Amino acid sequence: MKEKMLRRFAEIFGDSQGAEVYFAPGRVNLIGEHTDYNGGHVFPCALTVGTYGAARKRADGRLRFYSMNFEQLGVMESSLEGLRPDPKADWTNYPKGVIWAFEERGMKLPCGMDLLLYGNIPNGSGLSSSASVEVLTGFILRDLFGFDVSNQDLALIGQYSENHFNGVNCGIMDQFAIAMGKKEHAIFLDTADLSYQYVPVKLEKARIVIACSNKRRGLGDSKYNERRRECESALACLQKVTDIASLGELTLERFEQYSSAIPDPVWLRRARHAVTENRRTLEAVEALERDDVKRFGELMNASHVSLRDDYEVTGRELDTLAEEAWKVEGVIGSRMTGAGFGGCSVSIVREDAVAVFIRQVGEAYLEKIGYAADFYVVDIGDGPVKL
Ligand code: GLA
Repeated sequence: MKEKMLRRFAEIFGDSQGAEVYFAPGRVNLIGEHTDYNGGHVFPCALTVGTYGAARKRADGRLRFYSMNFEQLGVMESSLEGLRPDPKADWTNYPKGVIWAFEERGMKLPCGMDLLLYGNIPNGSGLSSSASVEVLTGFILRDLFGFDVSNQDLALIGQYSENHFNGVNCGIMDQFAIAMGKKEHAIFLDTADLSYQYVPVKLEKARIVIACSNKRRGLGDSKYNERRRECESALACLQKVTDIASLGELTLERFEQYSSAIPDPVWLRRARHAVTENRRTLEAVEALERDDVKRFGELMNASHVSLRDDYEVTGRELDTLAEEAWKVEGVIGSRMTGAGFGGCSVSIVREDAVAVFIRQVGEAYLEKIGYAADFYVVDIGDGPVKL
C-alpha cells in the first residue's frame, strides 16, 4: 500500500521525495448508541479498513489536497491563512478543519503541505470515514511538524474540528475509537470523564458483519443535531427536580422516578433511550467479559428496538436490515450502528452462517427496499500508524 500511495503521490504532486505514508482506521460501534453526548458509555472498536494518507511539507503556505476516492475533483488548493469552511471545498473541509483546530490550540503550521488520501471505508456507510480523515490528519500533523499531542488529544481535536468547523455537533466516540483503537479489542469508554478500558472481543466461532444500507444519510446531520437538542431539553427538565449533570448518570429506576418532570412526550422518549442504552452497554460489556456472547447479542437487538421506537433514527432501510437479520439462524445479535438515518447495521454472526446471512438478508433487502445492500466481514484493528 505504501508503494501504491507514493506512486500516486508522485503522479499528482510531481515527485514523492520526502513524502511519508500513514493509515487511520474506520470504526464500528458494537453497542452504546447516541449515548456519547449524554455522558453515557459506548463500546466501539477500530477496524482494519480505513484511510491511507501520503503527505509532505511544502516550502510555501499552500495546502494541496487530492483524494483517490474523488478523482473527479482533482487537486484542491487553498492557502494556510484564513481557513474557513466552504461547501465548495467538499471533503477537504475535514483536513482543513483539523489544521484550523490545531491552530486554535496554538499549534500553527509553519508551512503548507501536500496531502493525498485513499480510503477503503465505504463512503457514507456510517463507519466514520470523516472521523478517520480527521484523526489521520492530526496524526500526520503531529508527525510532520512535531506537535506535542497525545492520541487522546488527536481525538479531541478531531471532534472539535467536526463541531466547530464542519458544524456537526458529534460526540467523542468516533474520533476516540479511531485514535485509541486496539487490535481484537473494543473500547469501553465512559464519555463523562473519558476513562476507558480495552475489552477483548472473543467471539469464538462468530464474525462481525457490516451491512451497508446504501441509503445516503442526507438530512442526517441536521436530524443528529436535533436529537442532541431534544436530549438537552429533557435533561434541563430533569435538572429542575434532581441534581444530575447528564442523562448518563441515571439508573432506570431514578429516571422513572423523575420522568414526569419531562412534559414533552418526544423528549421523554429520547431521554429514555439515552438512559436505557447506557444501562444496556454496561450490561453488554459485563456479558462479554464472562463470555456470554448470547446475552451480548440480545442486548444489541434491544438497542436496535430502542433506537427504532424511542430515538427514531432507524428508518425502513436499517429496520429491514436488522429485522431480516434476526430471522437468520446463527445470528447472535444485530442492530443499526452509528448515527442512523441510513448508514449500516452491525451483526454478530456465527461463522458457519455468514454466507446464508448475506444471501438471505441481501435478498430480502433488495426485494423490500428496491436496491441492494453491501456486506463486509470485518476485523478489529489498531489505531493510526505510520507505514
Ligand atoms: C455519530 C457521532 C457519534 C455518536 C454516534 C451515535 O457517529 O459522530 O459521536 O453520537 O453518531 O452513537
